Amino acid sequence: MAEAKKAFIKSYGCQMNVYDSERMGAALAADGYALTETPEDADLVVLNTCHIREKAAEKVYSELGRLRPLRAAKAEAGGRMTIAVAGCVAQAEGAEIVRRQPAVDVVVGPQAYHRLPGMVARARAPGAAAQVDTDFPAEDKFDHLPEDRRARRAPAAFLTVQEGCDKFCTFCVVPYTRGAEVSRPAERILAEARALVARGVVEITLLGQNVNAWHGAPVEGMGAGLGGLIRALARIERLERIRYTTSHPRDMDDALIAAHAEEPKLMPYLHLPVQAGSDRILKAMNRRHTAEEYLRLVKRIRAARPDLALSGDFIVGFPGETEADFEETLALVRSVGYAQAFSFKYSPRPGTPAADGAQLPEPVKAERLARLQALLAEQQAAFQQTMVGRTLPVLIEKPGRHEGQMVGRSPWLQPVHLEAAAGLRGRIVPVSILSAQPNSLAGRLAA
Ligand code: SAH
Ligand code: SF4
Ligand code: F3S
Repeated sequence: MAEAKKAFIKSYGCQMNVYDSERMGAALAADGYALTETPEDADLVVLNTCHIREKAAEKVYSELGRLRPLRAAKAEAGGRMTIAVAGCVAQAEGAEIVRRQPAVDVVVGPQAYHRLPGMVARARAPGAAAQVDTDFPAEDKFDHLPEDRRARRAPAAFLTVQEGCDKFCTFCVVPYTRGAEVSRPAERILAEARALVARGVVEITLLGQNVNAWHGAPVEGMGAGLGGLIRALARIERLERIRYTTSHPRDMDDALIAAHAEEPKLMPYLHLPVQAGSDRILKAMNRRHTAEEYLRLVKRIRAARPDLALSGDFIVGFPGETEADFEETLALVRSVGYAQAFSFKYSPRPGTPAADGAQLPEPVKAERLARLQALLAEQQAAFQQTMVGRTLPVLIEKPGRHEGQMVGRSPWLQPVHLEAAAGLRGRIVPVSILSAQPNSLAGRLAA
């Protein structure tokens, strides 16, 4: 028998790309590829790319520059390395990618992944031209991608329930790269969740660019929104933890907030980006809510689940942002108190409305970002410190860096390092927290 061809897949950007990469890996495995950890001897390299900021998009071209000599070396040795660019850069730039980097053989947009194995096969034919597919096909890619059949899964898994976005925030490429908002049917999601749990998964994070806009025909007596879906999932025995990300403040409905109050499997951690604290800037961003409305929403969610921790995303230096606008962002952060946050300098993206606005000077963006990040780091440190001395239920996920060490997750997504037997992987155990680092906790198994 011939040796299996090897495929290397690298993911950039958000968790939805991580999930898509797993599904592409399963499709390639069904097509006879073995997955490999390095590009060096791969027959196929897939870069699953991100277009959200200029830096993210540019990374792809530097990676392609590194792959090019590997591809040439492989050809010299009589082999063939096929290079595929998938994801949001593929969707945004299409055939332009091949013009810029002729070593690319396949360009495939996020909604056409079920076509990837066929495209790769065509691209590998002698003398074939590059294959480009950036369609938004009518059929659902997930219905045409094989299930991930790996016998044993990591204890925590992602599950995409919703794709695309209809919000059109004026800074954002996602509505263009991922297309219109689509929800996967509840039965499919429940079936996939049951299959994951059957393979040892105990924690599922539901994914969507706008996950809380998920809606579907109610099954098993649940409601039609994400709150109902979470309640239906919570009935799966041996599924212990449920999370979801990323949410838009406009779509946090009462049923979802009630699920936080009443469903113990739903973890007390919510990523709820606000982007800015000035109403003028929020309006220019087309976020469609005010700072006050966001603060009221946070209050309601915390009333439902008092131990809930919040994380957020922020953009500084949006076109037209004044010092006073920026100070309103700081004020909002002070009044919310975030456990974690991601913050970025505004990056103008081709084709988005805000890219035409007057850009702020780079040093102004950098200075504001530094001030915001200092405040957020202070809040995160304070949150981390509140864990010391407590005993937390920790899901043991994987071996740590040191002999005998394991790493798990707290209910608030914090990595927790402890000494534990490898056999505890996949179990939720009580851990006494001894110390806190900015991004992790350390503890020991509680008696
Ligand atoms: N759907 C999510 C966000 C997805 S993009 C939401 O609505 O919140 C992830 C984050 O990247 C955004 O929350 C935003 O903070 C940041 N981002 C998006 N476009 C950006 C841009 N052009 N420049 C800088 N940051 C951006
Ligand atoms: Fe982008 Fe806004 Fe949609 Fe989030 S809600 S993906 S920021 S357009
Ligand atoms: Fe990036 Fe596309 Fe995700 S632009 S953040 S990979 S949806």
